[in-house]
Formats: sequence, C-alpha cells, structure tokens
Amino acid sequence: MSLWNGRFTQDTDEMVKQFTSSIEVDKKLYLCDITGSIAHARMLAHSGIIRDEEAEKIKTTLEEIKEDISSAKIDLSGKEDIHMAIEEELIKRAGTVGEKLHTARSRNDQICLDERLYLREEINTLQQLIRGLQKAFLELAEKNRDTILPGYTHLQYAQPVLLAHHLLAYFWMLKRDSRRFSDCRRRVNIMPLGSGALAGTALPIDRDYLAQLLNFPSLSENSMDAVSDRDYLVELLACLSLVMMHLSRFAEDLVIWSSSPFSFIEISDAFTTGSSLMPQKKNPDVAELIRGKTGIVYGYLISLLVTLKGLPLSYNRDLQEDKYPLFQALRETKTSLEILAKMLKSINLNLKRMRQEAEKGFFAATDLVEYLVEKGLPFRRAHQLVGKMIRFCLEKSLDFAKLTLSQYREFSTLFEKDVFLRITLEECVFRKNSPGGTGRKSVAQQILWAKKELGEE
Ligand code: ARG
Repeated sequence: MSLWNGRFTQDTDEMVKQFTSSIEVDKKLYLCDITGSIAHARMLAHSGIIRDEEAEKIKTTLEEIKEDISSAKIDLSGKEDIHMAIEEELIKRAGTVGEKLHTARSRNDQICLDERLYLREEINTLQQLIRGLQKAFLELAEKNRDTILPGYTHLQYAQPVLLAHHLLAYFWMLKRDSRRFSDCRRRVNIMPLGSGALAGTALPIDRDYLAQLLNFPSLSENSMDAVSDRDYLVELLACLSLVMMHLSRFAEDLVIWSSSPFSFIEISDAFTTGSSLMPQKKNPDVAELIRGKTGIVYGYLISLLVTLKGLPLSYNRDLQEDKYPLFQALRETKTSLEILAKMLKSINLNLKRMRQEAEKGFFAATDLVEYLVEKGLPFRRAHQLVGKMIRFCLEKSLDFAKLTLSQYREFSTLFEKDVFLRITLEECVFRKNSPGGTGRKSVAQQILWAKKELGEE
C-alpha cells in the first residue's frame, strides 16, 4: 500500500516497485529530510494551517524516527524513497496528525530542499578537506625551502625551480577550487520549499518563515523552475571535476617523481602496493587511482548533464537519477583529497637525485640570455648567441661551467668573469624574484600569502 494509491485499482507490479525505488541511494538524505519536514510543520502551524500541538507532535515523532533510523531500528528496504519512508513511519506513529505534514508540499520541492540542505554541509566538508591538503602542501614547501629540482615544459628540462614553488602551485589551484565552492554555495543556498509539485499552492503558507527557519538567505522565484532546477548539482559536479583534475595532475607528478628513472621521491610502504607476481615491486597505485577516479568523476558530471538535457518543464522522474552521480562524485573527491593529504606526509625526498637532474640540460641557458640582456644586448640577439654556444657545447661535449672565459668571449665580449657566478644552480633559481617567480624571496613571499590565505598569519 502506498500513500498515493487512491485512484489506483491495481497494486504496483513488484518489478516496477523495485525499478522506481531510490531508497538505497537517497536514504543518505534522511537527516536533511527530517530537518526540512520539522521546519515545514512549524511553518504550517505558524500560518494557521495546522495547530501548534499538531506541529509539536510531528516534530517529536520525527525526532524519534531520526534516532531510530540512525540506530538502524527502522527497516528502510523496499521503500519507494526516503520521503515516503519517513512519512509512512510518521503516520504509523502519529496517526491523523502525521497525515497533515505533507500539506502544501510535494516530493518535488521536498527533494530539492533535501539536496540543498545536504550540499550546504558537504560544501563545508569539502572546503575543510581542501584546506587540509593546502596545509600539507604548505608544510612540505616550508620544510624544503631551498630544495631545487628541474622545472619542465613539454616534460623536457626547462629551468630549475624550487620544489617549494612547484608544490605551492597546487596550493593556489586548491584556493581557486575552494572559492568555486563558495560561489556554488550561493546558488545552492536558495529555498525551494513551497513550490509544491510545480505550481505553488493556494494555502496561506509562509515561505519567508521557512527560509528563516532553515537559514536560507533567499527564496526560489518560480515554482516550475524550482522543482526542475538541478543547475546547482551540475555546478557542484563541475567544481568536483576541477578538484579532481588538479589532484590527478599532482598524482601524475607523484607517479613520475617516484618512477625508476626519476627517483625524486619515495612514497612510504603504507601508501604503495606490491605486485602479485614481481616480488621487488612497489607501485604508486594510490596516485594512479586518483588519476583514474578523475575520469569517473567527469563521467558523473556528463551523466547528469545528459539526464537534464531536453527535459520538459517541470518535474520528471528522470531527475531521481541525479543523486547517484552526485553522491559517488562527492565520495570519490572527498576520499581523494583526504588520502592525498595523508600521503604527502609520507613522502621521502631524494634531494641528491633532484639536484643531479636539475643540473642537466643547459639549465642556465635562459639566465645567460638575461645576463647579456643586462649588458645591453637585445633579447633576440642574446637568444641566438646562447643557442650557438649550446650547439658548440653539444659538439664538444661541454657545458657552460666547463667553458673558459676566453671561450665565452669568442661568442661575445660582453661576457666577463662574473658570468661564472651567474650560472650556478642556486643563482639561477634564487634570483628569479619577480612576483610569483621561483626565486627565494618570491617563494618566501608566496609562503606568507599562503599562510594568510589559511588565516595563519
Ligand atoms: N524520489 C524522487 C526524486 O528523487 C522524488 C519523488 C518525486 N516523485 C514523483 N512521482 N513526483 O526525484
């Protein structure tokens, strides 16, 4: 028996019951559903639609139901969805009074409210997790202020950089991610209840009062839009996708850095896995899985977009399928953020290997160009000239440090003895102090900015 079967002469087919049921997915929403229902009952009383004692009875019964769901005393299996399950239980326990709760409400506005309440919490959690990972990046950066490693473009040696600089790049990506969630929260934080099934109601409800009770700064302006809108979910999934994209890029750094030819880092045993066949193996599977799960999260975003495409106004049952991608994407992203923060703390750096690699590949080439520019040579001419020096070194198997001053001066008389001071690894890195650069001072400044961002300065 269902609460909506007045006009039906046949029972629902067993298979249809299972097919249409969403309880296994939406039971997660029970706390939000009860919070919303208590507010709704209070509003109905406030508006004179039900009596105060009735609202009170609904409230206390719903609170008992909440406890019983938390302690798994209520069997939810086989129910249609979380809204029906709770309402049926309420009616079972509170009788006629319980039958008044759904006045001026539909599951169509109810589900939107539940989702919005749920997401407000989830966004807070996500922002805390992001902050935890930012802290982990910052700590590692601070501990290794002078460590140099090669910087790459096209995965070819480019210019050496501070490890701290490389790590902090992710700090700023995460800052944007967190800001995006704040922005998304503004559109999540809109109160849809009171939209009814699609058209609102003639009963004298007070939506402002509901918004006040549930701490929403504003109301949805159009009931048809309110029950069909899932933009906030798309936005959230897009935000999650961007977080995962950033994490997967760092995961790729970890895979590369821990690979045998690089050996810049060693990830601790606790965060690696072995091979069932090759006894010597220790693989960066956690990083690889973050990379892998990123694709899955993108998939959830696309799946929701496709579900929404071309849906006519207003509510359609297709919308029930919004929750699986949402919950899964949230789960994967939250776990990835958490595990990465833990893993970062377990990484051993091989500073010698980083330095060996940083010294390769004519790392000072651009610095020599800048040296000549400082002496007055136009940039393009300096670039050509250093290019010729590189060709010369390649032919003679030399590098800049091994050339004599007279060899330098054969290329340009602008070179003087001080050139040797400018082509050391430290000089090349530490001096790049343009704001946001990899120089020591710039990175020190960046660390201050990062601390300020975390409210630690
Ligand atoms: N469980 C549904 C959902 O998540 C809400 C139910 C609305 N059902 C309906 N027949 N109007 O979207």
